[in-house]
Amino acid sequence: MTRLASAIMVVILCVSAPAHEGATGIVKERMDAMKALGALTKDMADKIKGNRNLPSLSADADAIIATADRIPAWFPAGSAQKPTEAAPAIWTDPEGFAASAVAMRKMAEALKVKVEAGEPAGIAAQFRLLAQSCKSCHQGYRIIPK
Ligand code: HEC
Repeated sequence: MTRLASAIMVVILCVSAPAHEGATGIVKERMDAMKALGALTKDMADKIKGNRNLPSLSADADAIIATADRIPAWFPAGSAQKPTEAAPAIWTDPEGFAASAVAMRKMAEALKVKVEAGEPAGIAAQFRLLAQSCKSCHQGYRIIPK
C-alpha cells in the first residue's frame, strides 16, 4: 500500500462512525464536532489524492487547530453519558488526553508549512502523520464500537 493509500485508510477508519442519536448537551456537541472533523479530514484526503486545490488545505488545517484547542473542554468530568464513545482514560489520564490534542495540533501546523512549500509529496506525507494523530488518540481514549 502506498503511503497516501494508507493515510486514506486511516481516515476511513476514523470516519466510519456509527449514528449518535440520543446524544444531548456537551456529548452531542463534541460528537457532532468530531463527526465534522471526520468529514473535513476525508475531504482533505480527497483533495490530496486528486492533487487539487492543495492551497485550501491550509484553511482546513486551521479548522483542525481550532478543534484541537477545544477538545479538553469538551470532556468535563461526569460527561460519559450514553451514547458516548469517550473512554474512561480521558478522566483518569487528563494530561495524556490533552497531550494527544496538542499532538494533533502540531501535525496540523506542520501540514500548513508543507502546504506553504507547495510540494505534493511532502503534503501527502504530513497528512498521513496528521491522520495517525487522530488514530492514536482514538486508540487510547475512545471506545470504538465493533
Ligand atoms: C485528543 C483526542 C482525539 C483526537 C486528537 C481526535 N479525536 Fe476523534 N474522538 C475522540 C473521542 C474521545 C471521541 C468520542 C467522543 C464521544 O463519543 O463522546 C472521538 C470521536 C470521533 C468520531 C466519531 C464521531 C461520532 O460520529 O460520534 C470521529 C468521526 C472522529 N473522532 C474523527 C477524528 C478525526 C478525523 C481526527 C483527526 C483529524 C480526530 N478524530 C482526532 C478523541 C480524539
